[in-house]
Amino acid sequence: MNTRPRLVTTEAELKQASAELLQAAAGRHRSGRPSQALVPTMGALHPGHAALVGAARRANDVVAVSIFVNPLQFGEAADLQRYPRTLEADLDLLAAAGADVVFAPPVEEVYPGGEPLIRISAGRLGEKLEGGSRPGHFDGALTVVAKLLHYGLPALPADFRAYFGQKDAQQLALVRRMVADLDFPVEIVGVPTVRDTDGLALSSRNRFLSPAEREAALVLPRSLHYLKGQADRHEPLDLGGALAMIGSVPLVELDYLEVVDPASLEPLAFNCQDTPFTGEALALAAVRVGQVRLIDNVQLGY
Ligand code: PAF
Repeated sequence: MNTRPRLVTTEAELKQASAELLQAAAGRHRSGRPSQALVPTMGALHPGHAALVGAARRANDVVAVSIFVNPLQFGEAADLQRYPRTLEADLDLLAAAGADVVFAPPVEEVYPGGEPLIRISAGRLGEKLEGGSRPGHFDGALTVVAKLLHYGLPALPADFRAYFGQKDAQQLALVRRMVADLDFPVEIVGVPTVRDTDGLALSSRNRFLSPAEREAALVLPRSLHYLKGQADRHEPLDLGGALAMIGSVPLVELDYLEVVDPASLEPLAFNCQDTPFTGEALALAAVRVGQVRLIDNVQLGY
């Protein structure tokens, strides 16, 4: 059986654990600095999260995972209440994935004075795509990520990396931008999306799909891989065809499908529909299947 990671609930305990684990790691290092990773999560963990922790484990001496359901990034109170809390199963998954320490603070530890007055603003990058449907979501997500990056800073001299899934491509682009714009001393590492055997990207929301909805949802990865095939062959991108694929599935309602620059998230599609695709881009899509909103993306030209 795998050893369970150490569970801590306060910043002080996390720093104490970091100091002890880094001290032990420094003893093993002949040269060079040890390194510490933080994997921020909201729990309800699945193999996609295990891949984040696995990537962190392979590249770092100390791996901390945070589990915190952040009220600031939820639009409706009902969504926050409904969010699955599965700490025991999460700890088992994290033991198998090799985490050293799990930071699962109560809400009062993170927001002792209630909701913070001062927040990180995602700016116009946070208003498009997901931000268009979920106003304020990215301000809330970046605010907690900023706090978690402070909590997760190594307690002794060490390199610091934080791991985020490519599945949430807009969040990843925004975190990279925040860290660059505000000089956070951390390297941000993006980890490829993990998919089920049928192609559906793993998500804690997939559990809410009925079998018929799940079957219908497969049009999301199918339409994105249609575009990826064209990009790989340096053909013009048939965005209209991809939209028509989604439109042909009755249970699926399209929110957006866009081809964007990976860093600025500015739309590119209309520059590459008539000419062969070159360079790098992201094809991003969001759909609603019944009550469940799903997002997915593929990298084009990588
Ligand atoms: O991607 C998530 O799970 C969350 O948005 C994050 C990064 C843990 C912040 O709450």
